[in-house]
Amino acid sequence: MRGQFIQVPVLEAGNLVRGGRFGWKNQHASLLSFAADAYLNEMGITSPLQPNENTSNGRPVDAFDKVLDPDNDGQDVEAFARFMRATKAPPRDEALAATPDAQRGDQLFTLIGCDVCHVRTIVTAPAGTVINQGAFTVPAALGGKAIHPFGDFLLHNVGTGDGIVQNGGQSTRNKVRTAPLWGMRTRDRLMHDGESLSRNEAILRHAGEAALVIFNYRNLSAVDKNALITFLNSL
Ligand code: HEC
Repeated sequence: MRGQFIQVPVLEAGNLVRGGRFGWKNQHASLLSFAADAYLNEMGITSPLQPNENTSNGRPVDAFDKVLDPDNDGQDVEAFARFMRATKAPPRDEALAATPDAQRGDQLFTLIGCDVCHVRTIVTAPAGTVINQGAFTVPAALGGKAIHPFGDFLLHNVGTGDGIVQNGGQSTRNKVRTAPLWGMRTRDRLMHDGESLSRNEAILRHAGEAALVIFNYRNLSAVDKNALITFLNSL
């Protein structure tokens, strides 16, 4: 089982590529590119990084715009990327994490192999590192930090694919980025399509590359399954 790391264009660096890490399909490598994409494709707002309006049945949608697109200088998109960069993952529920149940679940998470994809700890690049093909320098506030995303930021086929290709080509059509599990307790619609309504359901939906690990999960006692879920609820 090995995650796929795709190279995708960084819009603010003249489309030079970097390893994708953001979005369900890792379609972006930088938050600025992501913000410009969301402005265009979710809100219909063009910006210098995404200057072309979408079309509907071949007709530009700006014919129907009642107001001018407001981000001609790209300042909104920049501010939005800064906001995302400054947003923290929710902290852990320390009280729950300290219970024997959650601690047992914490051990099981590694023992049965969940952390092969849901990687516990990643250290960010040192402050001063130039990334995004020269477009961003890692500031002190973000550099050299051990983060606990419980995700590897890579694409895997766990049997939930939707066949949609974004920036990764045909081989990625049925792959999805490992969902980072930090802040898990704040979510109740799980998986990329929001179709799983409980932790247990979401776990049992994993197949493909995760089949062996899920086999291990199925073989846990009911007490151990609940302990693992209590651990997830503490994240
Ligand atoms: C082969 C890699 C892999 C393994 C092993 C794996 N997962 Fe996942 N996990 C994923 C991927 C990829 C997704 C996103 C799938 C989707 O959205 O369709 C995911 C999604 C989830 C989600 C949903 C999170 C959300 O916010 O929607 C939970 C919960 C989860 N995994 C828990 C587990 C647990 C517990 C184990 C161990 C029993 C496990 N996973 C093993 C790759 C893996």
